[in-house]
Amino acid sequence: LSPTGCRASPSLALIKYWGKRDARNNTPATPSVAVTLGGLTTQTHVTLAEQDRVTVGDDPQPSARYEAFFRGVRAFLGCRHGFQAVSRNDFPTSAGLASSSSGFAALACACVWASDVEPPMSRLSELARLGSASAARAVWGGFVLLPRGARAAVQLWPPEHWPELRILAVITREGAKGTPTRDAMASTRAHSPYYRAWVRSSRRILPEALRAVADRDLERLGEVARTSSNRMHAVMLASRPPLRYWTPESVAVMDVCAELRGRGVGAWETLDAGPQVKVLCLETDRGAIETALGERLPALRVLRAWPGAGVQRV
Ligand code: PMV
Repeated sequence: LSPTGCRASPSLALIKYWGKRDARNNTPATPSVAVTLGGLTTQTHVTLAEQDRVTVGDDPQPSARYEAFFRGVRAFLGCRHGFQAVSRNDFPTSAGLASSSSGFAALACACVWASDVEPPMSRLSELARLGSASAARAVWGGFVLLPRGARAAVQLWPPEHWPELRILAVITREGAKGTPTRDAMASTRAHSPYYRAWVRSSRRILPEALRAVADRDLERLGEVARTSSNRMHAVMLASRPPLRYWTPESVAVMDVCAELRGRGVGAWETLDAGPQVKVLCLETDRGAIETALGERLPALRVLRAWPGAGVQRV
């Protein structure tokens, strides 16, 4: 086993995955469409070890979170040894910036490539999914689809398809950690009366999102992405006990976006399992949006992202 490093970027869902079809295999109940966020990176280095050990930044990770993943990797490689992985994000971890997507994508590729095996990318996407379904998407760059119930994601378009697209990640709360997605999804499915409607509506809006990305139509994409995000948070809010990831600052950013759209500036928000807000826009409007956020919410940090590459060796 040769020490191997990989770099990956998080996968931001435009149409959200929320809910598992099959919890054991970690397959999604809803289809998701995502863009891989160039500008934000996770770097992971893997070496052989007696036991599996993962650290993210300076924090040792709970081994239970990685058990099914490493079991799948060992079954695929036909090996019995463990892996030691050291991972670093250049953006806030576990705060709803999808660090688990880039984390497991980089980890899956690093474990396999370190073993001198070169399977097709779709196989790597399958392995990454065992850790986190959104990681199945982050293996690929550009615009990516994870169909409902699928074991692997597929690339729809490379990053060059829409180079003017920007994603501004507004950090509303540093170091935030909410309910882990696994528990939150299980709770939504079991305790939200709107769960079936959520799954059905995701399937219905999918073609609209695919067309909007194909046509590079920001207004249409922004509208449908915002709808998917709002419906995902609505189904969670209706759960018992309720799940609420939004904070007053998240809502304040959403208000700034609404105000900007009222002035003809295309700024469309989407939120995941955390308080941070990602704003979809075009490069031509980026300055106006950053200025408005800086004036209204000067304490908030804004990270810039764009359609980026999939997993790469470092
Ligand atoms: O793949 P997970 O378990 O980190 O779940 C991701 C869930 C969302 O980020 C909220 C939506 C998505 O499709 O990425």
